[in-house]
Amino acid sequence: MTVAVTGAAGYIGSHVAHLLREQGVHVLAVDDMSAGVGARIAELPLVELDLARDEAPGVLRAAFAQHQVRAVVHLAARKAVGESVEQPARYYHQNVAGLANLLTAMQQSGVDRLVFSSSAATYGMPDVAAVDEDLECRPINPYGETKLVGEWLVRAAARAHGLRAVSLRYFNVAGTARPELADVVRANLIPIVLGRAAEGLPVVVNGGDYPTPDGTCVRDYVHVADLADAHVRALEHLDRDERPHDVLNVGTGTGASVLEVVDALSAALGREVPVEVGPRRDGDPPALVASVERIRDVLGWQARRGLAEICESAVAAARARG
Ligand SMILES: NC(=O)c1ccc[n+]([C@@H]2O[C@H](COP(=O)([O-])OP(=O)(O)OC[C@H]3O[C@@H](n4cnc5c(N)ncnc54)[C@H](O)[C@@H]3O)[C@@H](O)[C@H]2O)c1
Repeated sequence: MTVAVTGAAGYIGSHVAHLLREQGVHVLAVDDMSAGVGARIAELPLVELDLARDEAPGVLRAAFAQHQVRAVVHLAARKAVGESVEQPARYYHQNVAGLANLLTAMQQSGVDRLVFSSSAATYGMPDVAAVDEDLECRPINPYGETKLVGEWLVRAAARAHGLRAVSLRYFNVAGTARPELADVVRANLIPIVLGRAAEGLPVVVNGGDYPTPDGTCVRDYVHVADLADAHVRALEHLDRDERPHDVLNVGTGTGASVLEVVDALSAALGREVPVEVGPRRDGDPPALVASVERIRDVLGWQARRGLAEICESAVAAARARG
């Protein structure tokens, strides 16, 4: 059987694609290469396609038939929060219309299993120690909204025509399984810190007066290799379970503050990364940590790697890039 992985040339998608291949699954990559890196998926068949374009359902139908696709992991999306605030229509079009086109093609092709990349950004600014999936979602930016609308669309498709689906709400994804698959975009904390350290510049922390143990924001960092494994488990779950549409958090259940992450990176680098505390950034909840009971119960999955392993893998990848 073949699994189509949209966004396969991206950071997380390439990890999912490689893990599936290691397990003997054929993978068809679908990516418009707007943010993808070709070298990550050089050995995979690729459909180069913007999923949001009108012709996408037809192109996908042909590709699904040619490659005997039986299931889809849908990661392709725009993910820059700030850009989504400036260009909401583009984000809704890319993320929601892209998903709608994919679901249309799946229905027309009789492909009935889907794992959808959602995000902890759906929760917004929750005021609880650990967020569980039943908490009311109140996203605070268009990016988070597109992920929540995406979950609703997936749920509606499950009700309407028997799609079996799991939406995975990722928390902060970091680290790498192999240097060549690493996250190289300086948008998330760890690539930003490593970039600043390489330039000999201090890291500017956005706010040091939050109601957290050291005053900096706390997040739940999950190793991308563990996250990829959650996708494999989700696909297996869809093979055996008829229940339509589960929404599951993917995190570790443990938070780390910005300063703890910088310390862990300093330890991995073998030298201290200097820190300057700047003003808060709008829209940052003080803490966002996953409740991970449901994914453990439903998929039998839990994170195996911790912050030290995440940071060591990211540092090793940065050194390999030179
Ligand atoms: N990185 C994180 O911490 C994080 C957290 C929560 C959720 N997510 C979600 O995980 C998914 C993957 O994120 P990533 O970090 O690997 O991002 P990424 O930018 O590295 O990968 C996204 C891939 O999708 C492709 N793509 C984007 N729009 C497309 C379109 N319209 N048609 C076809 N291809 C398109 C890009 O070229 C890229 O290769 C996204 O859906 C993102 O919203 C990521």
